[in-house]
Amino acid sequence: MTEQINALIGKLLDEHRLSAKEYEALIAGRDAEAAEILAGAASEVSRRIYGNAIYFRGLIEISNICKNNCLYCGIRRGNTDCVRYRLTPEEILECADEGYSLGFRTIVMQGGEDPYYTDEMVCSLIREIKRRHPDCAVTLSLGERSRESYAALREAGADRYLLRHETANKAHYARLHPAEMSFDNRMRCLRDLRELGYQVGCGFMVGSPFQTNAHIAEDLKFIEEFQPEMCGIGPFIPHEKTPFRDHPAGTLELTCFLLSVIRLICPTTLLPATTALGTIDPLGREKGILAGANVVMPNLSPTSVRKKYELYDGKICTGDESAQCVRCMAARMESIGYRMVVDRGDVKK
Ligand code: 5AD
Ligand code: FES
Repeated sequence: MTEQINALIGKLLDEHRLSAKEYEALIAGRDAEAAEILAGAASEVSRRIYGNAIYFRGLIEISNICKNNCLYCGIRRGNTDCVRYRLTPEEILECADEGYSLGFRTIVMQGGEDPYYTDEMVCSLIREIKRRHPDCAVTLSLGERSRESYAALREAGADRYLLRHETANKAHYARLHPAEMSFDNRMRCLRDLRELGYQVGCGFMVGSPFQTNAHIAEDLKFIEEFQPEMCGIGPFIPHEKTPFRDHPAGTLELTCFLLSVIRLICPTTLLPATTALGTIDPLGREKGILAGANVVMPNLSPTSVRKKYELYDGKICTGDESAQCVRCMAARMESIGYRMVVDRGDVKK
């Protein structure tokens, strides 16, 4: 490790921020030793705040129908080979009940941008989950909606919203998305969610096509400024039925390095070790936790639809019953000295 990298790590530890140029230099100049030091510091910070707790969130993939056509995503509307499904409100509530009995106290409803789920429908789902399970947090991950829509969902009781910014660089955003999607609207959504009182999650893919270290530095500056309650990062993984089928996947190494950096920028933020990380390496999620992550999101979707929610090739956990997945994840966390925690797991302020 060079003296310069050592100094940058010291500065990040002390000040929780670097300039964009410094982030870029840190990423470009990293080596195994730098990664180890950062991971050690990041997991120490995480342990100081959250102990050895890993927060479990139950993820229900309510629909793979999407009006958007993001170039990287396997459920883009242009993928005509994708077999589409929608869960009915009854099915979603059954999944939430099952999640509750498995111990989850955060239910995440995620889906493509499917206009079928009107505000009225999502609001009544939120109200019903809260009526049945008042001690549960409800998290939504339903893409870009109007401010009025976000306000109605919040009013109905939604606590949190996950919307990855995908990239903080406008030109890069335009290379990952079709012309009808806009970076400015994405940012508008994130600002609205914040103003409406949601706990907000942003995030990006590591190794997305055309991504440079300078772009990642911009993502880190954005995270510094936005101070998200949650930050989802995982490797890009190509999907064979998308225009990016021939682009290489992001790496475990860089993803873990960035998890550590983000933990040091935002010590209290909730950082998931994502399914994508577990897909590119059999121990990816464990390695993510050891680099500073503190959340996992096992799948609660009915087994019958799991394979269809394929954002990228080779997604893991698509054949398992929810209960199996929870047991497996709990054992994985115990194997590295952490424990599954099933309370709401709100961000510590
Ligand atoms: N590889 C990895 N992550 C992906 N996502 C979408 N497509 C892919 C892919 N091919 C991520 C996006 C989105 C989140 C739900 O999944 O960042 O916001
Ligand atoms: Fe799903 Fe291991 S976490 S099977």
